[in-house]
Amino acid sequence: MSNKHLLIKKSPPLNGTVHLAGAKNAVLTIMASLILTNGRSILRNVPDSNDIRQMIQLLTNLGATVTFSPESNILEVNTSSITNFQVSPEIMNKMRASILVMGPLLARFGQAEVALPGGCLIGTRPIDFHLKGFTKLGAIIGQTGHSLHATLQKTSQENRVILEYPSVGATENIMMCAVLMLGTTTIVNAAFEPEVLDLVSVLKKMGAKITCGPGLTIQITGVHSLRPVVHDIIPDRLEAGSLLLAAAITGGQIHIPNAQPDTMDIFLEKLAQMGHEIDCSHGIYIKATTSPLAINVKTAPYPGFPTDLQAPMMAALTLANGVSEIEETVFENRLIHVQELKKMGAQIDVAGTSSRKAIVRGVKTLCGCEVVASDIRASCALALAGLAATGQTKMTGVHHWKRGYDQLEQKLGLLGGNISLIA
Ligand code: UD1
Repeated sequence: MSNKHLLIKKSPPLNGTVHLAGAKNAVLTIMASLILTNGRSILRNVPDSNDIRQMIQLLTNLGATVTFSPESNILEVNTSSITNFQVSPEIMNKMRASILVMGPLLARFGQAEVALPGGCLIGTRPIDFHLKGFTKLGAIIGQTGHSLHATLQKTSQENRVILEYPSVGATENIMMCAVLMLGTTTIVNAAFEPEVLDLVSVLKKMGAKITCGPGLTIQITGVHSLRPVVHDIIPDRLEAGSLLLAAAITGGQIHIPNAQPDTMDIFLEKLAQMGHEIDCSHGIYIKATTSPLAINVKTAPYPGFPTDLQAPMMAALTLANGVSEIEETVFENRLIHVQELKKMGAQIDVAGTSSRKAIVRGVKTLCGCEVVASDIRASCALALAGLAATGQTKMTGVHHWKRGYDQLEQKLGLLGGNISLIA
């Protein structure tokens, strides 16, 4: 059992300028998309988090040559030597995002073998939309134990893949499979998260033919081959949100010059409703109020309030004036952080074990104590609460923090936060 933890002490109002790393959720998929090419691609602005390390391992196991420089955040991937289309269960179990190589492997080799990804604490996280989509594209999918094997039967077609829900992963996976299939594929009710659009721009650089719209549709006209790319990953809007909430919870003021406010409209609107002053003339600047108001938040697919900022926002609302209502609509079990925030003195009610609604009654103070992170965003929520809580907070389950963030503790430290990672 690891002894690693984050030690967080009550901190002064955060103050200063901070720059964002590249978006983890964009990089993971874009790394998978390189399987579609044959040659050497360069990705810049790649964060150094454990999920990225896992994806490097996965590509290496498939036969790619990968070099990563965490100092310069440059990742070079040469895919010409990929010969393997099987992903081991060990890798699959460590990172659910591994499923995103299924589409590219099917497109490149006409077949793919992956282990079934398990659920995780935030929900069962099924992949039925991905598999239905591949089947629509002409794949025959079989299962042996925990292994899935898929083979593409058709070569040229017109397809309409209808998603019941605008799933980010399914949209990306189906799109990556369709780009090398002759004919036209239309994805209806597709996801339009900024990270999906970053993938679209990479695929277009490779030579793919993709049209977004009208409405929530994406149209892909297959091409014979795709070329390697050089690409700068978009800044991480979820890291931006976490930093803004860290400023909010400590009553500070920070500036994030490379944040993209137009990808965060509803989140920024919610910060403004709390009484925080937001200026988007150059990146994002926040001057936090010391007397924040309670608000209501409901997560939804983009451009709605991001599920990934629900937990950190809840941490901030534990200290707001009044009663806030938070509803999680994307994942069925993403309120696990509630019990940990309550240990710190937060007053939160969740009606029943299967409820997705939390009622947060603002309190005057939180108290530091020992807490356990259950997922990436829960770890962020607890770290933020720790910055505002009296005394000291010890957070274990720190591997979740390291999966999702590139040394966020150091960035918070440079802004005046009293937080350190203890090995
Ligand atoms: C989701 C988030 C994404 C976030 C990421 C990491 C949304 C819409 N998606 O993406 O913004 O960055 O988590 O936390 O906010 N589902 C199925 N069957 C499937 C696929 C999904 O039922 O085959 C369900 C999921 O269980 C979930 C919902 O659809 O309830 C959204 O899932 P999806 O967008 O696919 O999840 P991620 O791609 O992980």
